[in-house]
Amino acid sequence: MTTPVPAGGFPPPSDLVELPLDEVYRWLEPGPVVLMTTRQGSRANVMTLSWHMMVEFVPPRFACVISDADHSAKALNATGECVIAVPAAGLLDRVVAVGNSSGRSEDKFAEFALTPLSADAVGAPLIGECLVDLEAKVIDASLADRYGIRVLEVVRAWRNPTIADTRTVHHRGHGVFSVDGATVQTASQMP
Ligand SMILES: Cc1cc2nc3c(=O)[nH]c(=O)nc-3n(C[C@H](O)[C@H](O)[C@H](O)COP(=O)(O)O)c2cc1C
Repeated sequence: MTTPVPAGGFPPPSDLVELPLDEVYRWLEPGPVVLMTTRQGSRANVMTLSWHMMVEFVPPRFACVISDADHSAKALNATGECVIAVPAAGLLDRVVAVGNSSGRSEDKFAEFALTPLSADAVGAPLIGECLVDLEAKVIDASLADRYGIRVLEVVRAWRNPTIADTRTVHHRGHGVFSVDGATVQTASQMP
């Protein structure tokens, strides 16, 4: 079923500010559970994703595993584009629900009250309720058939400054999640 794209496209974002590309890795490096949106023609979809990792700072590149069993894989294969949206802990129930249902039979944006907004460089929608939205393009799918692995490059990034609680969530398996706790500043010289 997926989600119908309105005739004039999704509404533009109004609350989002641009996130510099050299800050993108700081959002994915801790391994948060994320949402991945896709769009194929006049239909959009969203799935939950936790198997991802950074592979380059700038341009920001990351790898992720997307099963062929996911309806989203078809749109990603067809378009080579997606949006990776980082939800805050407050969205956890919806993130789990998105990850336990399929766009094959459901309009997940409507069902789970997520707001699709128009992106700039890709057709897949941003998600208005998320902390960060990363517009991404597949740059290497050579391991997709064997392992489901794709490498993607973030071409434009957005941050939602209206969300006060910026804690993200991390999947520990079997429905158990941890929520960001204290951070510790060390003398690291890493950028
Ligand atoms: C916490 C969580 C993490 C998940 N991580 C992944 C993942 O990394 N890769 C993947 O292919 N599916 C993952 N899934 C499963 C997909 O989100 C799920 O199959 C989804 O319903 C696919 O939706 P679709 O058929 O509309 O594409 C995860 C699900 C949950 C709940």
